[in-house]
Amino acid sequence: MHAWIPGRRGAEPIVMAEVDRPRPSPDEVVVSVEAYSINRGETFLLEAPPPAWRPGKDVAGTVVRAAVDGGPEVGRRVVAHPEQGGWAQEVAVPVGKVAVLPDTVTTTTAAALPLAGLTALRMIRALGPLAGRRILLTGASGGVGHYFTELAAGQGALVTAVVSTPQRGRRLIERGATELVDDVEKAEGSFDVVAESVGGSTFPAAFSRLHPRGLFLWFGQASRTPPTMDFFDWRGGASATLRKFSYVDSDIPDGEDLATLVRLVAAGRLHAEIGRVESWRKTPELVRALVAREIRGNAVLTVD
Ligand SMILES: NC(=O)c1ccc[n+]([C@@H]2O[C@H](COP(=O)([O-])OP(=O)(O)OC[C@H]3O[C@@H](n4cnc5c(N)ncnc54)[C@H](OP(=O)(O)O)[C@@H]3O)[C@@H](O)[C@H]2O)c1
Repeated sequence: MHAWIPGRRGAEPIVMAEVDRPRPSPDEVVVSVEAYSINRGETFLLEAPPPAWRPGKDVAGTVVRAAVDGGPEVGRRVVAHPEQGGWAQEVAVPVGKVAVLPDTVTTTTAAALPLAGLTALRMIRALGPLAGRRILLTGASGGVGHYFTELAAGQGALVTAVVSTPQRGRRLIERGATELVDDVEKAEGSFDVVAESVGGSTFPAAFSRLHPRGLFLWFGQASRTPPTMDFFDWRGGASATLRKFSYVDSDIPDGEDLATLVRLVAAGRLHAEIGRVESWRKTPELVRALVAREIRGNAVLTVD
């Protein structure tokens, strides 16, 4: 079968190659991939790929081989969150990382759900009750930002979204964001929660907007620049809590949370923001576009 694999150093970051079909463990289904999405974290890994690693954590398609241990049968449409290898015609996925799709949710929409959706859902869970709380969200125009904004606003939070241009924030307003700012320094007032994923100078600037006993959720570093903090910067968050967040740290299995995301989408309470949909042959082009901040929300590739 065909799959995208990391390219040679100094050449194209990924190349299409002929690889072996998946050999599933007893607890794995094999999914014929119809669509997948690209995550920023995967673009980082492509710069220095681990040995034998292949990209692809977000897929949707049809089960072509059931697991020995149960789970969805052959022919069921599913969304899945494999460890790797999903930018391919087929991928093996543990049944605990798969959710069945209703007819109303397309594979293109579903492919945009796993990593970004799981992260947003688990961030919401980490924050506790949100009604009436003010949240400052940086890097808001990406995949995580759109889901997080809609889920938080749906619970009554007031979300201030930091985006580079009004165009990149347009849908965030439709999904319930209270206001947009194009620079974190322009965010006014005191925030109960800051959710930060850009790093560099954005980190301390966002921290300084915190309520004295606010919560700072640190969930990424899209700029690749580690933040520097000054203890004696008393502008905000004087006695705040700083939590480093990883979506992997969850007591609820991926499959269950994927099913929750699918239910919310089917009910019209959560929307995938898919900035671009292209044939999977254009994967290298979309990787470049994502890195260059040209894609709002998620980029989805369809396997033809
Ligand atoms: N902790 C976890 O468990 C976890 C899980 C998934 C993702 N993440 C991280 O969460 C962040 C958001 O993920 P995502 O999938 O939503 O990413 P994404 O779609 O690439 O969005 C990231 C956004 O950050 C903004 N940004 C601001 N400064 C940037 C810079 N210097 N370089 C690149 N982007 C910049 C961009 O929006 P503007 O151009 O509008 O500013 C971009 O749309 C990423 O850092 C990702 O690595 C963390």
